[in-house]
Amino acid sequence: MERGFAGRMAVVTGGARGLGLAIARRLAAGGARLAIWDQDGAAAAAAAAELRGHAEVLDVTDAAAVEAALARSEAALGPCDILVANAGITGPNHRLEDYPIEAWRRVVEVDLVGVFLCCRAVLPGMRARDRGRIVTIASIAGKEGNPNASAYSAAKAGVIALTKSLGKELAETAIRVNCLAPAAVETDLFAQMSPEQIAWMKSKIPLGRFGLPEEIAEMAAFCASDAVSFTTGAVFDVSGGRAVY
Ligand SMILES: NC(=O)c1ccc[n+]([C@@H]2O[C@H](COP(=O)([O-])OP(=O)(O)OC[C@H]3O[C@@H](n4cnc5c(N)ncnc54)[C@H](O)[C@@H]3O)[C@@H](O)[C@H]2O)c1
Repeated sequence: MERGFAGRMAVVTGGARGLGLAIARRLAAGGARLAIWDQDGAAAAAAAAELRGHAEVLDVTDAAAVEAALARSEAALGPCDILVANAGITGPNHRLEDYPIEAWRRVVEVDLVGVFLCCRAVLPGMRARDRGRIVTIASIAGKEGNPNASAYSAAKAGVIALTKSLGKELAETAIRVNCLAPAAVETDLFAQMSPEQIAWMKSKIPLGRFGLPEEIAEMAAFCASDAVSFTTGAVFDVSGGRAVY
């Protein structure tokens, strides 16, 4: 078993299921201590129990809750070395002019502001220790723009730009921040989308299938590792060939 994360403490937001859980499992297999942050308390507790980690129940859009979760996680597991900012929602699918305003705002709040708040919380400690890896989870939608998903596409484009901006801010430190842009992976997230949207997403993937959570986790683990030293503010494609840049 590869132990590249031995002694490392990793926070995975939205780590209770789906891609976050797969990423948490991959980091734990490498020896990391895991803090699972999720709004679903029961699922977070189950994931933390499986990984012998620490669970925090929170909404990543709540700045005070994020700060408190970090303090408790670090008290339990030690200083945060790795943040995987993964928690996200797609929101419903509507044409832009039909999109409910509050639903649009909520998607941006969770998918973009939540990433900002989690990065904001861990950065002072990472800077003080001059070490750390941040992995943000965007989406191919943030590069290409998916129809009937304007909120999600805009929020994920924001995550890509946040990552690029932060990478430059941290360039004189030993902290690296990189982003993943996955195409569709069959998780509970699909329940938020229309069947037509899901079929359209699959049709756009040249490999002709959905990704697997473990395939996303492998790229996330690479970005969380010491192997990523000369790359920061970058966006890694995990899209089965869909991305063209
Ligand atoms: N599944 C895909 O096809 C796909 C493709 C590209 C990108 N992504 C991104 O990957 C990430 C994970 O997606 P997934 O497919 O695993 O989704 P999922 O719905 O299976 O899991 C998301 C987890 O995040 C948690 N969460 C949601 N909002 C939260 C909040 N405000 N505060 C705390 N926790 C919250 C949920 O409780 C859930 O456990 C998301 O950012 C998503 O946009 C997913």
